[in-house]
Amino acid sequence: MTRHFLVDDDLTPAEQAEVLELALAMKADPYGYDTFAGPQSVAVLFDKPSTRTRVSFEAGIAELKGHPMIIDAKASQLGRGESIADTARVLDRQVGAIVWRTGDQSRIDEMAAHSTVPVVNALTDQFHPCQLLADLLTIKERFGDVAGRTLTYYGDGANNMAASYLVACATAGMHVRIAAPASLQPAPDVVARAEKIAEEQGVTILITDHAEAAAIGADVLATDTWVSMGQEEGAEERLADLEPFRIDSRILSLAKRDAAVLHCLPAYRGKEVTAEVLDGPQSMIWDEAENRRHAQKAILHWLVTASAPPQESETDDSTPDED
Ligand code: CP
Repeated sequence: MTRHFLVDDDLTPAEQAEVLELALAMKADPYGYDTFAGPQSVAVLFDKPSTRTRVSFEAGIAELKGHPMIIDAKASQLGRGESIADTARVLDRQVGAIVWRTGDQSRIDEMAAHSTVPVVNALTDQFHPCQLLADLLTIKERFGDVAGRTLTYYGDGANNMAASYLVACATAGMHVRIAAPASLQPAPDVVARAEKIAEEQGVTILITDHAEAAAIGADVLATDTWVSMGQEEGAEERLADLEPFRIDSRILSLAKRDAAVLHCLPAYRGKEVTAEVLDGPQSMIWDEAENRRHAQKAILHWLVTASAPPQESETDDSTPDED
C-alpha cells in the first residue's frame, strides 16, 4: 500500500518517532542515504510562493541521490484546468514521489488518491505537516525528548500552522496550548481530532484567549505570521485582534527559563514577535529552518520504504508441493 503524508497524524505516534530518529541520523550523515539513486526524480510542485520549502526539498532530494524536479504548477497544465487525477497518473510514471504546495486540502487528497507513489503535503490552507516535523526535530535536539513537553502557539489559531501544531504535537505526546483571539480560534473538527489523539497519548489540549496564562511553564513558544498566504484581504481587522498575542520579552519571561522560541518564517519583527525575542538567545529559528531539509529527507525515505512491495523470500515455500 502506498503511504502518503498529507496531515500530521498520517503517521502514528510510533511512526512519527521513527521518522524523527531517522532525521537525526540523516543530519549526522547527510550523504549516506541512496533513496533516489539512479537518479530517480521527485516532483516538487508549487501553487504558492516559497523559500524554505523549495530550497530544503531541492537540496534534500539531491542529498538522497535523486533529481528534484521543481514545477511551477500554475505554469503547468494544472494551471489551465487539467484534472488533478490525470496529473497524478502522469507524474507517478515519471517520479519516485510527489511533493505539492497547494490550496485546499481536498486538492492534495485527490492527488494522493490517484498516485501510486507517495504524496507529501508541502503546505495547504489547512495543514503544514513538513514544518511540524522540522519543529519537533528542533525540540528533540534542544531538550533530548519531545513527549511530556508543553508548547504554546501564539497568534492566528485558525491557520494551518495552529492546526498542525495541535495534531502533530499531540501525536508526539506533547501538551499543546493555542493562545489566540476569540475571532481566530481553531476549527472545531481540528480541535476534536487533536483532543482524541491527546487523550490516547495522556496529554492535554488548551484553547485560550489568555495570552499571559498560556505562557506559564511552557517549554516552547511558537508563532507564525499574522497574515497567511491568500489572507491579505481584511488583514487590518485581524491585526488589531492579534496585538495581545505578540511574543515579546514579557510573555517569554513567563515560560520556563530555558524555553525555546520557534517561528516557521517568514517573520515580521514587531508584529507576531519582537526582534528582541526572535533574534535573542532563546530563539531556535535558524536550526528550525535548517531542519526542514533533514526532516523532509526522513519522511521521503520513510514513505518510499514503507510503500515498497514486500520482497519475496528466497526460501518462500508457499507454492504447494507437486507430488
Ligand atoms: N515555513 C515555510 O514553509 O517557508 P516557505 O513559505 O518559505 O516555504
